[in-house]
Amino acid sequence: MNLVILGASGSIGKQTIEVVKKEKKWDLVGISVGNNVKYALNLLKEFPSIKYLSILNKNDLNYFNNLNREIKIFTGSEGILELINTSGAEIYVNALAGFSGVLPSIKIIEKEKKLCLANKETIVCLGELYSEILGKHKKAIVVPIDSEHAGLKKCIGKFKDSEISEYIITASGGPFFDLNKDDFKKIELKDALNHPNWKMGNKITIDSSCMINKAFEIIEAHYLFNIPINKIKVLVDRKSYVHALVKLKDGTYRVNYGPKIPTMTRPISFALNYKKDRNFYTDVKKYSDLERFSFKILDKNKFPLIKYGEFVLNKKGNSGVVFNAISEECVNSFIQGKIKYVDIEQIVDKIMNSFDFEYDLSINKIIDSDKKARLRAQKLISNERR
Ligand SMILES: NC(=O)c1ccc[n+]([C@@H]2O[C@H](COP(=O)([O-])OP(=O)(O)OC[C@H]3O[C@@H](n4cnc5c(N)ncnc54)[C@H](OP(=O)(O)O)[C@@H]3O)[C@@H](O)[C@H]2O)c1
Repeated sequence: MNLVILGASGSIGKQTIEVVKKEKKWDLVGISVGNNVKYALNLLKEFPSIKYLSILNKNDLNYFNNLNREIKIFTGSEGILELINTSGAEIYVNALAGFSGVLPSIKIIEKEKKLCLANKETIVCLGELYSEILGKHKKAIVVPIDSEHAGLKKCIGKFKDSEISEYIITASGGPFFDLNKDDFKKIELKDALNHPNWKMGNKITIDSSCMINKAFEIIEAHYLFNIPINKIKVLVDRKSYVHALVKLKDGTYRVNYGPKIPTMTRPISFALNYKKDRNFYTDVKKYSDLERFSFKILDKNKFPLIKYGEFVLNKKGNSGVVFNAISEECVNSFIQGKIKYVDIEQIVDKIMNSFDFEYDLSINKIIDSDKKARLRAQKLISNERR
């Protein structure tokens, strides 16, 4: 089966390549990278099957001048959409970071292909529009590449919502779980990038440290599996050994766990291999209680940004795309040294509490809302620096 990887040069993209090489089941026909054209060139050499490439910057085209075979190369963010339109693959992995992944996901769903979705921002930004678009394209299949959601899918199996009382995703707690809140003002970039269990891209690593990522995952869980908001819970597993659990109404739990050293190659392989009519109860065990586990409770006063998961689900409309845009602007500004770590929380709060949310959704409205929220965030960030 033909496969395209969007964001092939990122953390998930590279791990997808590992799975493709190991399992030898898919023909890699297309890739997109952002600025890492050197990596793209290496992949073209390694995979003669690649016929389509998308890169971000037109000026990098000359990098591919001396290829000894015909490759169709697209450029810019439009280029990714053209790559999807032209490549005709059966499976697409969307491992793009942030809002750049949203329109490509829509295009893949509209083409009724299988979308292996790492880009959780797609669901966060689209909200109800995600369900609407998916509802119109019944043959499209979306399988999450998030360890928690792949785990939830396995735990849910064939149980109906009426049989389940709680859907639980785990959080590692990140690098600051045991840090005193007063000391958060001393946090530097290197501390926030030092995730205890996972090696990921910079954006998601910072998001994880302040629980923006967990807020995203609460939203993702709701729209992926149609879970009632009040049944979604979060527990902390410091070792990221357990990814997800469901509590059944008979009081028993189905628990999904991973290997001792957490790896994303498992959920990636799960997504690539997933078929609607196959049973995927692997890596799930039944327990009558949770005594053998050492779960911890997340302190929401220490990590208040997690509340925006529920906030966005209740508020609906464009609140998800606004939340994502502010988060992206804040986290990127923190990475660039423009604001302090503690400013992230303050700026997100300030804008989310005063934004004039809109409720009639369309793709254009999502794009406009993203721009509007970014401008608000940028303005506040530049004031913060004065
Ligand atoms: N990493 C994980 O373990 C993990 C786990 C679960 C979910 N996810 C989700 O997976 C997605 C990717 O995460 P990641 O950690 O793999 O990120 P990453 O390492 O930063 O990689 C992002 C990829 O997207 C490309 N890209 C970034 N901005 C772009 C733009 N504007 N236009 C075109 N391409 C662009 C990058 O290209 P260049 O590098 O070439 O510029 C790179 O290939 C995120 O949504 C994240 O939340 C990640």
